[in-house]
Amino acid sequence: KNASSSSFKTNVMPRRFYSSGGSPPPRKVVVLGAAGGIGQPLALLMKLNPLVSKLALYDIAGTPGVAADVGHINSRAEVAGYMGEEQLGTALENANVVIIPAGVPRKPGMTRDDLFNINAGIVKSLCSAIAKYCPEAIVNMISNPVNSTVPIAAEVFKKAGTYNEKKLFGVTTLDVVRAKTFYASKAGVPVEEVDVPVVGGHAGVTILPLFSQATPKPNSVLSEEDIKALTKRTQDGGTEVVEAKAGKGSATLSMAYAGAVFASSVLKGLNGEPNIVECSYVQSNVTELPFFASKVRLGEKGVEEVLGLGFLSEYEKQGLEGLKSELKSSIEKGIKSASEN
Ligand code: NAI
Repeated sequence: KNASSSSFKTNVMPRRFYSSGGSPPPRKVVVLGAAGGIGQPLALLMKLNPLVSKLALYDIAGTPGVAADVGHINSRAEVAGYMGEEQLGTALENANVVIIPAGVPRKPGMTRDDLFNINAGIVKSLCSAIAKYCPEAIVNMISNPVNSTVPIAAEVFKKAGTYNEKKLFGVTTLDVVRAKTFYASKAGVPVEEVDVPVVGGHAGVTILPLFSQATPKPNSVLSEEDIKALTKRTQDGGTEVVEAKAGKGSATLSMAYAGAVFASSVLKGLNGEPNIVECSYVQSNVTELPFFASKVRLGEKGVEEVLGLGFLSEYEKQGLEGLKSELKSSIEKGIKSASEN
């Protein structure tokens, strides 16, 4: 039985694993940027996750309100709000998992790289604080451009002497979430059963869904045109939302869902649940690029194993070769930006 595909059917709510009757181990999750469009629904979903015992919500403004609101919900996690840089250290202390959706989102006409300078600065300062206050924590990076913010975080941690490549993840789950929805609809199969790996990076053509590996198989064979259209829609999923929101931001609700699915899998891995597999953008040897998204097996120390690409169709092989130069330059841009000042 293919363990990775069965465990790939992730859900926000973990299935029963703690059969001994005991509750799962205490786990502190911190959300940085918790008052934002992604941060608020993500705080809600993490509050609902029974694997979380403490939920720290940090932002530069607005977190007392979000924490008071979410804190009234009837679930295990104890919620606390932290506001302003002087409270960042306390928010991060003893964290097991830090999720970062802090930054500015895309506006119509903006590319992810337009956000680069603002978000690079935010990510650098937050990662310096992580290195200082919770160097052992697992970091889930949502702030865009993920292709560059993950290398930036790695550089900040290297400089601080705390870098552990097994504990730094770029969250690409939204690409997987979209690929599953679009595939399910085209293939006429139930979305809950769908598994589609998405590899490469997290912007435009660097997003490479591997529909040739999608399961369950479609009811009638998808044409090459269908596959191209599905690929393009997955790559442009973010733009679809930005345009539909017409100036009111980018994906927040589906991103919060995707971030919660990924964080839940990270927590299951930490707790020793076997065969937890998610696609994520991590330090990698799968290609010649130093960071690359592919299926990753999650474990008690973070990354347990970075899995290979498996079978690729001719179209996917072309996509892979075609994305490398853009991904490489985004990685280099991140490394360069981290070395400045
Ligand atoms: P938003 O503007 O609604 O929220 C961002 C929050 O970050 C705000 O509450 C703001 O106060 C906070 N923030 C700014 N500087 C901060 C700092 N130094 N420390 C702590 N918090 C700080 O934006 P939204 O829509 O929630 O998006 C957030 C980020 O997520 C953006 O970079 C966006 O591009 C990215 N994103 C990533 C996706 C992915 O798939 N990885 C998908 C969608 C968005």
